[in-house]
Amino acid sequence: MSSAMHLKPTKLGTKSYWDAQYTEEVSNYDELGDEGEIWFGQESVDKMVDWAVENVPPHASSASPPFILDVGTGNGILCLSLVEAGYDPHTIVGIDYSEGSVELSKRVAKGRNVDGLTFELVDFIHSRPTPLSTQLNGLWDLILDKGTFDAIALYGTQEANEQHPIDIYPERVEALLPAGGFFLITSCNFTEEEIKAHFTTKAPTLKYHSRIQHPTFTFAGKSGSLCCSVAFRKE
Ligand SMILES: C[S@@+](CC[C@H](N)C(=O)[O-])C[C@H]1O[C@@H](n2cnc3c(N)ncnc32)[C@H](O)[C@@H]1O
Repeated sequence: MSSAMHLKPTKLGTKSYWDAQYTEEVSNYDELGDEGEIWFGQESVDKMVDWAVENVPPHASSASPPFILDVGTGNGILCLSLVEAGYDPHTIVGIDYSEGSVELSKRVAKGRNVDGLTFELVDFIHSRPTPLSTQLNGLWDLILDKGTFDAIALYGTQEANEQHPIDIYPERVEALLPAGGFFLITSCNFTEEEIKAHFTTKAPTLKYHSRIQHPTFTFAGKSGSLCCSVAFRKE
């Protein structure tokens, strides 16, 4: 792993942290109707959905609506927002490795009266999501990640020579996309240049496609964004 991508492990890189977090969020939802944390805010959700509508439209001329996978779905709000934007819930799957996230997402979807979405317990680094019955090739037209690669970057490794999960992650994306499929990632731990370099080096069939502009700030004469969103297309 390049040193720029090498972050110090923290509790956000542990499954026990997310399990405890979602246990609390499920009980908050049950007691107060609180849908839980939207990482990087609603604006980041809206921008990713707008990008999707423009580049992988819900009603393309092809017969089937696009198959969309949300990696590390959290409370499932990104999936629900795609449905609000006109996507068919039956072709959208949110996966997470924490059972509480899957449970919370299902409850939030039910609370919003949205049927047809699938939420599945899957560890993205070690297994593949179950293909939907209509999905003959098991591949996804669009894979989304908001904050999950960031969390995975905070994992520790057991052995000194063990491959870090962020070095495995790009190949996992590559294997689940057809030629022409898209991957859109939003990160607040890495710069746009770091994300571009990491994914195109580790998964050479992923080519940079486009970016989303986030609000910028200027400090000490330099401008930057708190988050970046970068899209890749498999050649
Ligand atoms: C920062 S949260 C982002 C949640 C959601 N995407 C959002 O934007 O609100 C990171 C999520 O990644 C999930 N996660 C971490 N490692 C994972 C893995 N290997 N496979 C699937 N989900 C994972 C965590 O359980 C957590 O829900």
